Amino acid sequence: MAISTSLRYLLTAGSLLTAVLAKPVQKVLDEDEEDDTPLPLVIWHGLGDNYAAEGLHSVGSLAESIHPGTLVYYVRMSDDASSDRSATFFGNLTDHIAKACADIAAHPILSTAPAIDALGFSQGGQFLRGYVERCNNPPVRSLVTFGSQHNGISAFRECPGNDWLCKGAMALLRGNAWSSFVQNRLVPAQYYRKPDEYERYLQSSNFLADINNERIMKNQRYKENIKRLENLVLYMFEDDTTVIPKETAWFEEVNGTEVTPLRARKMYREDWLGLRELDRKGRLHMRTTPGDHMQLSEKVLNETFTEFFGPLKKKGQGRGQVLGDGDL
Ligand SMILES: *[C@@H]1O[C@H](CO)[C@@H](O)[C@H](O)[C@H]1NC(C)=O
Ligand SMILES: *[C@@H]1O[C@H](CO)[C@@H](O)[C@H](O)[C@H]1NC(C)=O
Ligand SMILES: *[C@@H]1O[C@H](CO)[C@@H](O)[C@H](O)[C@H]1NC(C)=O
Repeated sequence: MAISTSLRYLLTAGSLLTAVLAKPVQKVLDEDEEDDTPLPLVIWHGLGDNYAAEGLHSVGSLAESIHPGTLVYYVRMSDDASSDRSATFFGNLTDHIAKACADIAAHPILSTAPAIDALGFSQGGQFLRGYVERCNNPPVRSLVTFGSQHNGISAFRECPGNDWLCKGAMALLRGNAWSSFVQNRLVPAQYYRKPDEYERYLQSSNFLADINNERIMKNQRYKENIKRLENLVLYMFEDDTTVIPKETAWFEEVNGTEVTPLRARKMYREDWLGLRELDRKGRLHMRTTPGDHMQLSEKVLNETFTEFFGPLKKKGQGRGQVLGDGDL
């Protein structure tokens, strides 16, 4: 199955090329050239989870049942599930993103796909955004994130009673979050962001200040890559008590009691990341789902997969969009 899927992607890529070389465009729309193969789906799990976890795979199976033939790839920092879980707490995110980029680019099927879809749970959501901004090879069509910390966290979570790995990590964080020792080693510190310690954050953040283009020097490639997304779907859990503040899922800034929606923020007005442009094209979708952090509803997942994942070409959509509005 893997091989035939791979061949079909090669054919898709080939017919896109033909489409560009051989006008008129109508040829592209011929029924025979329709390819119903769903794009592969890349899933990145959250803190304390691992790539082999049953719950994660049941989400992958759901995606496959909605769009049969979907290849699902679970991002991992190690093939050993327990080391992969440990890497959700420990490590340098520059290296983590680079490893995900290298693994996806080297994957026999993902690397031949014209595009992929991406689904990030909790911190996995901002890490997949890091993939889009820093590599995007293959490019992401739809990036969907659930309860992600796109504008960071301003407090660290409590660990479940017997999770000593979590407790060890959180103990190191408290009071030391800005030190380069911690920024180099503890994952949540790298998306820690305190509006009342903004200068220290800008100086020290090893991940978030960079991928959010908050420093004076803006990385134009990050913006270009975000603008290539066909959909950026940001789900916030309505009653999220784990993520502080929960509004981070929508890039909102919460400073004390003041909540600034994305559209009122400087990062949007000056469009540091391309979010304003996505929004104006109707490609930025901010949604809520009931429940506490990661209380996923099968109904919402089904609807999201139906709407945003599946074959490259959907009725009413132009071809070549993923490849940059036709300027291939
Ligand atoms: C994280 O790793 C990158 C590349 O390996 C390195 O340049 C950076 O200094 C590291 N970050 C910290 C805070 O040590
Ligand atoms: C947050 O509020 C404090 C106090 O009003 C202010 O000094 C700080 O600059 C604000 N931070 C940001 C990022 O706006
Ligand atoms: C979600 O989709 C699957 C597969 O099509 C179906 O079996 C299941 O009943 C759906 N669940 C809901 C809640 O709609």
